[in-house]
Amino acid sequence: MNQRSIGDVEVGEIGLGSMPMSIEGRPDEARSVATIHAALEAGVTLIDTADAYHRDADEVGHSESLIARALESYGGDTSHVLVATKGGHLRPGDGSWTVDGRPDHLKRAAKESARRLGVDAIGLYQFHRPDPSVDYADSVGALVDLLDEGVIRMAGISNANIEQIRLAQDVLGGRLVSVQNQFSPAFRSSLLELELCAELGIAFLPWSPLGGISRARDLAGRGAAFERIAAELDASPQRVCLAWELALAPIVIPIPGASRPESIQDSVRASELALTPEQIAELTRDEDAEAAA
Ligand SMILES: NC(=O)c1ccc[n+]([C@@H]2O[C@H](COP(=O)([O-])OP(=O)(O)OC[C@H]3O[C@@H](n4cnc5c(N)ncnc54)[C@H](OP(=O)(O)O)[C@@H]3O)[C@@H](O)[C@H]2O)c1
Repeated sequence: MNQRSIGDVEVGEIGLGSMPMSIEGRPDEARSVATIHAALEAGVTLIDTADAYHRDADEVGHSESLIARALESYGGDTSHVLVATKGGHLRPGDGSWTVDGRPDHLKRAAKESARRLGVDAIGLYQFHRPDPSVDYADSVGALVDLLDEGVIRMAGISNANIEQIRLAQDVLGGRLVSVQNQFSPAFRSSLLELELCAELGIAFLPWSPLGGISRARDLAGRGAAFERIAAELDASPQRVCLAWELALAPIVIPIPGASRPESIQDSVRASELALTPEQIAELTRDEDAEAAA
């Protein structure tokens, strides 16, 4: 797979999103482990997770523990795999998502994540979502302390607007390496943040890059151009979608979710799909997909 950079670390340009393997509707552990192993086999070296990727209240970090077990049982060398986790979101167990961006919580949560991942330092730690009751600079300040204490190697943010990206870069003294925002054919309002990341040389990780767990399979039905170009290239619309995102800027690193080996095996092949400038322009103009947002 082609490589892109997050800070000083090179990763395959298609990562694996782990959320579908840990929240409601998740498969059994054997299928999840097979999915993670298939991703590694296909050259994936970035796995995105979060302490909040769990279903029940008493299983915080389900996804992190699952990934640690899958890496352990893989058999091959996994020392180059960057596991990117997050803190600041909570799931009380009733299906809802709440936030806690207090610095003390983030610092405690990061140490718990490191323990579950079985590492001395987390490769990439992302502040999951702004907490309206805490100053953004204070939440990001926790990442500064975590970097300085060596609990995390690199720091990122998620669900951040332009102002928050600039503020985080300032608070971190230029050490912000990634921004993870929702971005897909059906959800393009993060394009401005993507462009700012390109300008600043910060990695941009589109989340729900295929439109989200419940919409990813129908991607073709939502955008005529994605369906037409997929047929032209004899590729899946999902692969065309990821190739289009990669073509938008060299800092884009999509993290498609998967709960089946075939999904991530297909997604990884977006890296070898060369789109022409005309095809990219047609996909960018695809009004149907935008209207479905
Ligand atoms: N930072 C945040 O706030 C935030 C929020 C949401 C998600 N995320 C991260 O972003 C990742 C991706 O988002 P997502 O999982 O919500 O949505 P997504 O990547 O848009 O869609 C995931 C679904 O797409 C299907 N899929 C993947 N590749 C496919 C292919 N090539 N062909 C057909 N179907 C394919 C998978 O099906 P199967 O399950 O059948 O394999 C999976 O359930 C998450 O896993 C998570 O790591 C972050």
